[in-house]
Amino acid sequence: MYDFFRNHQVILGPMAGVGDEVFRFLCLEAGADLTYTEMISAQGLAYDNERTFRLLDLAPNETRVAVQLFGHDPEVLAREAARVEEELSDHLAYIDINMGCPVRKIIKKGEGSALMKDPDTAFDIVKSVSRAITHPVTVKFRRGVVQGQESAVDFGLRMQEAGASACAVHGRYAAQMYHGIADWGCIERVKEALEIPVIGNGDIKSAHDALSMIEQTSCDAVMVARAARGNPWVFTQIKAALSGEDVPEPPSAKERVAMARRHAHLLAAREGTHIVRMRKHAMWYMAGLPGASAVRRELDECDTVEDFDKVFGKLEEEIDARSL
Ligand SMILES: Cc1cc2nc3c(=O)[nH]c(=O)nc-3n(C[C@H](O)[C@H](O)[C@H](O)COP(=O)(O)O)c2cc1C
Repeated sequence: MYDFFRNHQVILGPMAGVGDEVFRFLCLEAGADLTYTEMISAQGLAYDNERTFRLLDLAPNETRVAVQLFGHDPEVLAREAARVEEELSDHLAYIDINMGCPVRKIIKKGEGSALMKDPDTAFDIVKSVSRAITHPVTVKFRRGVVQGQESAVDFGLRMQEAGASACAVHGRYAAQMYHGIADWGCIERVKEALEIPVIGNGDIKSAHDALSMIEQTSCDAVMVARAARGNPWVFTQIKAALSGEDVPEPPSAKERVAMARRHAHLLAAREGTHIVRMRKHAMWYMAGLPGASAVRRELDECDTVEDFDKVFGKLEEEIDARSL
């Protein structure tokens, strides 16, 4: 997959509850080379759960997507991966298996990062899924599970042996959740040890961070998650830096409000006028803007696209008044 990642070096990471197709649409438009779906329950697909299936909907500009599945049963994962492959056909970039999620309700079922503690099952999963589909299978995992006990290199080697075509490494232990700092040294160690491509992940917030991670770890691609929330421009900046161009200035306050408005309208076109999930996106777009804290409570009460438009209108007036 080295060729693939040469052309898809800047990746939007999977984010459950955030990375729907509207968000992915905006990130791709801003320059992301590849997107991941939110993590999708293989068991949910097996039950023909309609909401789970909706997570496979593609954005109009999404020629290819990495579909991330989670589960613990190799057979179920293999069967559902084959269904996803059939459903998405050429739109599928690859199937990624989530072996990094630290959330309690996931790990108590032996899924997500719990699989790092059970490398034999993880091995069987990758092997079974690889046999069931023709597309590549990748794994996303963490530095380790228990703080101070780094297992990423050994785990990565086993996943490679099982047939993984690439892996994404988030340089935190599962026990850290999202606290502390991601250790990029761990990504470097995995990259040195493995033959398959390695995607580096954790704490990339700017074009400078992306370049530094590539320089420090020699990773084949970078994955950005949280920094893209309310900030699709991060991809434009990273792509410019990677091509040796000047990094564009951050968006103005007005551009941020305009993008938030657009996001709300795209969501409404997809979900109808009630777009409660826009609240958190709106907060992210507004973060740090003058006057943002004053509208916080108002945003938190918005329900329909009209509600959001009203608050955005107020913000725009305020920005004009301050000529920001
Ligand atoms: C709200 C949220 C949801 C996430 N959902 C997923 C997920 O579904 N699958 C996954 O592998 N990682 C998930 N992650 C982890 C991110 O993909 C990424 O590994 C992590 O946030 C570190 O990268 P960052 O510093 O660029 O955010 C999630 C993170 C956040 C904040």
